[in-house]
Amino acid sequence: MKNPSPRPLTLPFVTTTRSERGTAGVARRLAAQLALGDVIGLVGDLGAGKTAFVRGLARALGVPSSVKITSPTFTVVNTIDGGRLRIHHFDLYRLGDEDELEAIGYRDFVGTDGVALFEWADRVPSAIPASGIWVVIEDSGVGNQRRISITAGRPRAGAS
Ligand SMILES: Nc1ncnc2c1ncn2[C@@H]1O[C@H](COP(=O)(O)OP(=O)(O)OP(=O)(O)O)[C@@H](O)[C@H]1O
Ligand SMILES: [Mg+2]
Repeated sequence: MKNPSPRPLTLPFVTTTRSERGTAGVARRLAAQLALGDVIGLVGDLGAGKTAFVRGLARALGVPSSVKITSPTFTVVNTIDGGRLRIHHFDLYRLGDEDELEAIGYRDFVGTDGVALFEWADRVPSAIPASGIWVVIEDSGVGNQRRISITAGRPRAGAS
C-alpha cells in the first residue's frame, strides 16, 4: 500500500521535525485519530509551522492539493471541505479578544459539523474547550528543526 496507516499518537507527545514534510507527517498521525467536533489550538511564533501543520492535517484527511491552505489572517476563518472531516481553520493573530471572536459567531463552527483548528490559540485560549488538543510548535534555532508538543487539555508549563 502506498500510504499505510500512520502510527497512533499517544498524548502527551513530543517530537522534533526537520522539515515541513516531517511536520506534515506528525499532523497525519494526529489526523488519523480525529473525530467530528474535535478542536485543536496551535501555538507558535510567526513562521513556526502552524499553517504547515494544518496543511498536513488537511491533506491527511483527504483534502486535494488543488485546495490551497493558507493562514486566514484577514478573514479569521476559512472552511475547508474535501476531506473525511470538514475543517474550520481559524487564525486569531489579528484578533483582540474573545468578544471579537464571539462577534464572528465562532461557536457555530466549533463542535458541530467538523473539526476546528485555531492558529494563535494562545491569543484567545478560552476558544479552546477543556477537551481540546494543544499543538505547540517551537523553532529550535537549529536548521529547520521544530519541536512539536501535542497535549490533551491545557499546554504544559514550559512547552511554549
Ligand atoms: N520542521 C519544519 N516544520 C514546519 N515548517 C518548516 C519546518 N522547517 C522549515 N519550515 C518552513 O517554515 C515555514 C512555516 O510557515 P507557516 O506558514 O506554516 O508558519 P505559521 O506558524 O503558520 O506562521 P504565521 O504565524 O505567520 O501564520 C514554511 O516556509 C516551512 O516550509
Ligand atoms: Mg499560519
